Amino acid sequence: MARRALAIETPALLLHLDVVERNLERMAERARRLGVALRPHAKTHKCPELGRRQLAHGAIGLTVATLAEAEAFVRAGFTDLTWAFPIDPTHIPHARRLARRATLRVVTDDLETARALAGSGLPVWLKVDCGYHRAGVDPEGPYAMEVARELGREDGLRFDGLLSHSGHAYHTRNKAEAAQVAEEERLALSRFAQRLRAAGITVRGTSAGSTPALSAATDLTGVTEARPGNYVFYDQTQVLIGCCEPEDVAVSVLATVVSHQPGGDHLVVDAGALSLSKDTGPDHLGLPISFGAVRGHPSLTVASVSQEHGVVRGPVPLLNQFHVGDRMEIVPNHSCLTVAHHDQYHVMRDGRVLDQWRIARGR
Ligand SMILES: Cc1ncc(COP(=O)(O)O)c(C=O)c1O
Repeated sequence: MARRALAIETPALLLHLDVVERNLERMAERARRLGVALRPHAKTHKCPELGRRQLAHGAIGLTVATLAEAEAFVRAGFTDLTWAFPIDPTHIPHARRLARRATLRVVTDDLETARALAGSGLPVWLKVDCGYHRAGVDPEGPYAMEVARELGREDGLRFDGLLSHSGHAYHTRNKAEAAQVAEEERLALSRFAQRLRAAGITVRGTSAGSTPALSAATDLTGVTEARPGNYVFYDQTQVLIGCCEPEDVAVSVLATVVSHQPGGDHLVVDAGALSLSKDTGPDHLGLPISFGAVRGHPSLTVASVSQEHGVVRGPVPLLNQFHVGDRMEIVPNHSCLTVAHHDQYHVMRDGRVLDQWRIARGR
């Protein structure tokens, strides 16, 4: 770690800018080759500086997960956002207030909410379940057609089209399995869009996405836009499911060794659950429980966390090389959740701190 980085008080979130820029460029190129527009999910970074870089790489707008994020991006001058979270009738007034200052596209899978959105003037996506089974209408069921007909009447709203999220791409073990998930998602969207068009309902767009599915997809015919989020940083989960290489991970938590009992089989660092999150990564791979990897030391792992303590385990001779006051970079299991625990990025290039960028993590 360079001297300038060592001046940072820990625990601290580091953002490696060269890696971010490479990730942005590669995903933009991938989307161009697959013929889809990009609307990256900003919940991963919650940071206008990064959103602007995504637009500079050709993104047509951003996706957000909360109205607090939408507020932050609108304040920062962003003009086209999709709130990709099911809206319910109680949130319509807030969404409409925001929509006076920017285009705010909303998402529903509910008939009553679709009716409540009539007259709102909002652009609305119909959420489709493409196999993740978290939210969304079953595209083959009669209820899907009923909600689509209601939205398709465009009674004081605009029907943007069909939106899905292939979150089950995280339950895969390699790119070939993730490519299958991407194909299922493509078919769910494109076949339902065809059915709606045959029924006389205009479908303007079809929006798909998750980082592992988009990274593995080979054909997105029938999909018009993609909403990857995590790709800006990636994380240890993406490494373990074969979506990216360890050198693609662009954020880490800089931590200090604060305790090392003589003869003990572990170290304590100042990065616990409130610095890393309690995400244990891809449980389906059957690996030992870990809350993060130690950069440059594959045999070390954050084996447990309490609120502020992280317990690092590994081969004792290696642990013995560390002393209280030494630093290590911890690669998070889930960068989106880790970022949401921090107020700022320390933006790094060539081992030097270039800048600090705020993280809009309010609720
Ligand atoms: C609705 C929706 N769209 C897109 C994404 C982006 O997925 P990823 O971060 O895997 O790229 C998410 C992530 O949870 C999501 O919930």
